[in-house]
Amino acid sequence: MQRLEAGDRLTILTGAGVSAESGLATFRGGGGLWEGHRVEDVATPEGWARDPGLVWRFYQMRRAALGGVQPNAAHFALARLEQWGREHDVRVHLITQNVDDLHQRAGSTVLPMHGELEVLRCERCDHRVRELTSLDEAVFVPCPACGHTRLRPDIVWFGEVPYGMDAIEDILMNTTHFLSAGTSGAVWPAAGFLHAARSVGARTYVNALEAPANLEPGDRFLEGPASQVLPEFAARCMGEVR
Ligand code: OAD
Repeated sequence: MQRLEAGDRLTILTGAGVSAESGLATFRGGGGLWEGHRVEDVATPEGWARDPGLVWRFYQMRRAALGGVQPNAAHFALARLEQWGREHDVRVHLITQNVDDLHQRAGSTVLPMHGELEVLRCERCDHRVRELTSLDEAVFVPCPACGHTRLRPDIVWFGEVPYGMDAIEDILMNTTHFLSAGTSGAVWPAAGFLHAARSVGARTYVNALEAPANLEPGDRFLEGPASQVLPEFAARCMGEVR
């Protein structure tokens, strides 16, 4: 990785691996969130319609967990890189599949394509509430706007369209450098962003503990924990390390 130059555009896609060292479980593999839960039960509109109590408990546990975790060195490195980019005419876009708020707390501007645990949304009137105080697993939160009995988590479930796809398409079309970090490349459409970046000629970098499904020989694979790899990547981008 060489120092980024004025006019360069770096796009970063993050996944659960970036928050793993903060203490939040990833999805796939041993101990992952999908080991103890069936995706179709807790992460689909059908699951919510069938058993909202089960889905609510699953997300209330995850919402409550945010209070006990902090951003790690990977989150802070990306926030610092974005700030440096602002000062050096380098556009840095951060797209995340993560629904935790750790990038935001570290100071990044982020496009949370799979929604946010902090946000609840009314299925009837679309009103959104940003709050992390109603955490009782057995109590639904009614809609303050229309009175509907329960808000749903504002999470993009399987079968639903991720947020910001038009903006993301524009970003990818113009990217000169692309980093995928802490994501297994198993979930679409995010898994296709690396390919989209390659196809416009961007230099591509991939960080994870093991090679993700969508890695190709032309990508530079930066194997290892994000809390070590991303600060070094950011330092190289900023020309602090050669
Ligand atoms: P996964 O659990 O599928 O993949 C986690 C990735 O992070 C793997 O590639 C690991 O190698 C890597 N990893 C683990 N610890 C790491 C560390 N300390 N440093 C760097 N990498 C590490 O999680 P995602 O790819 O984020 O969607 O999952 C994508 C989507 O699938 C999620 O947003 C979620 C899930 O279903 C929804 O809920 C809609």
